[in-house]
Amino acid sequence: MRYDLEYVLDSALDGVLIVASDHRLVLFNRACEELCDTSRQDVVDKAYWKLSDFHQSWEAISKKDGRITYGELGAKKERMMLTHKEGKRVWVETIYTPIFDKETGEIAYVMGVIKDITELKRIEDEKERLQKELGNIRRELESKYDFSAIEGTSSQILHALKLAAQVAPQNTTVMLVGESGTGKELLAKAIHYNSSRASRPFVALNCSAFPDTLFESELFGYEKGAFTGADKSKPGKIALALGGTLFLDEVTSMSAATQAKILRVIQEREYEPLGAVRSTLADIRIIAATNKDLAPLVREGSFREDLYYRLFVYPITLPPLRERIADLPALVESLLKKFHHEMGKRIQEISAEALEVLMGYHWPGNVRELQNVMERLVILSKEDRIEVPDLPRYLVDSAGAKPLSSGIPGERFDRSSLENSVHDFERNLILKALQKCGNNKTRAAHLLGLTRSTFRYKLSKISPDYFPAADRKAKSV
Ligand SMILES: Nc1ncnc2c1ncn2[C@@H]1O[C@H](COP(=O)(O)OP(=O)(O)O)[C@@H](O)[C@H]1O
Ligand SMILES: [Mg+2]
Repeated sequence: MRYDLEYVLDSALDGVLIVASDHRLVLFNRACEELCDTSRQDVVDKAYWKLSDFHQSWEAISKKDGRITYGELGAKKERMMLTHKEGKRVWVETIYTPIFDKETGEIAYVMGVIKDITELKRIEDEKERLQKELGNIRRELESKYDFSAIEGTSSQILHALKLAAQVAPQNTTVMLVGESGTGKELLAKAIHYNSSRASRPFVALNCSAFPDTLFESELFGYEKGAFTGADKSKPGKIALALGGTLFLDEVTSMSAATQAKILRVIQEREYEPLGAVRSTLADIRIIAATNKDLAPLVREGSFREDLYYRLFVYPITLPPLRERIADLPALVESLLKKFHHEMGKRIQEISAEALEVLMGYHWPGNVRELQNVMERLVILSKEDRIEVPDLPRYLVDSAGAKPLSSGIPGERFDRSSLENSVHDFERNLILKALQKCGNNKTRAAHLLGLTRSTFRYKLSKISPDYFPAADRKAKSV
């Protein structure tokens, strides 16, 4: 049986076209018609192909031995986008192959094989887009969890940051101590992203979130068949954090049995997934956190002393917001920026009185609570400024009970006489500087080596009466 070439080529799924040496198109199969959205009557013997770019190299090849290798063929690929009449776009890749005249060795025809690569192109574009996005996210993550993302210039927070920056590059176990919402997890991430483990995962596990048995399977993972219902194996958090950092939050919630196992992980750097016969290496750095004082728990025997010492190698204490209330304006400013970025809603100003209310509140939920309050304010605000009536009632009531500007120290300042003295000292210094500069705030700020905005915050804190009426109305953030 002899094959009818045109019939065979019409059955091919790829487009096949043949151009004669005078550039005239002599064959255009059915798949070509579909891919190019052109009927063969319109092009065969009518269209001319310019293949001069390829000719030279093909001639050189034909001079060699008349054969062309696969690698060289690959170099003659061409990609283009074809737009169909109804607007559909098709990406195609064509591979051109010369067909040499047996006698003369000259190029007699060029065959083009056209493949539809629309889906491949879409996947490639998507891959490129994802790679770019991944790069952006990684950069964003690194800057988000950079130490600079931790707001505050109070001595307590600066001290915590300094300790964290010093220990970050080491593999040392770190213990973060602080009330809920003081930024323990944020600091743990900053430590991780500033360590040599930064490109590996940061995995957080809250020890109080699971009952005892579940917690162990979360932490260590399990092998298939380890217990009824374990129909496949599951990696634990230690395996997920491999090469990276495991953040163990609320460590006081661990049972005695889990404490013993965690101790082994820290001491031996080894663990066994449930049902495993062999132990696995635990290449993780541990950062632990607690919002409770661990020492009394050790004394009463509910927390292992040996584990306590293993975890407390390098403790860092994060102060509650009320003990570093001077940081609140900067936190408010950065939160407003963050919500502007996330929600596209911009708050331009927060009145000095509203800021004073915020600074007078005791913030039991710390920065997390402040964040929630600010988010709510941004969502609900109809204007681009926040005034006292916009604030939640409990905040106004609580702050009103102990006004910060009254000069009578609120109970939060009774905690230490040092804090009281520093406050009074700062207040006197600011008032004296103002007197000296004829109430000119810019000059007074300069005299004290403060920026004008820091000076204004400090002033609003100690004596709002110093703001002239118009000035006092709005405080720009
Ligand atoms: N100093 C800070 N600067 C900016 N944001 C902070 C700061 N401290 C805490 N936050 C934010 O407050 C929220 C609670 O912090 P988190 O680290 O989860 O606290 P914790 O782990 O102590 O409960 C997070 O959204 C965090 O980004
Ligand atoms: Mg937390």
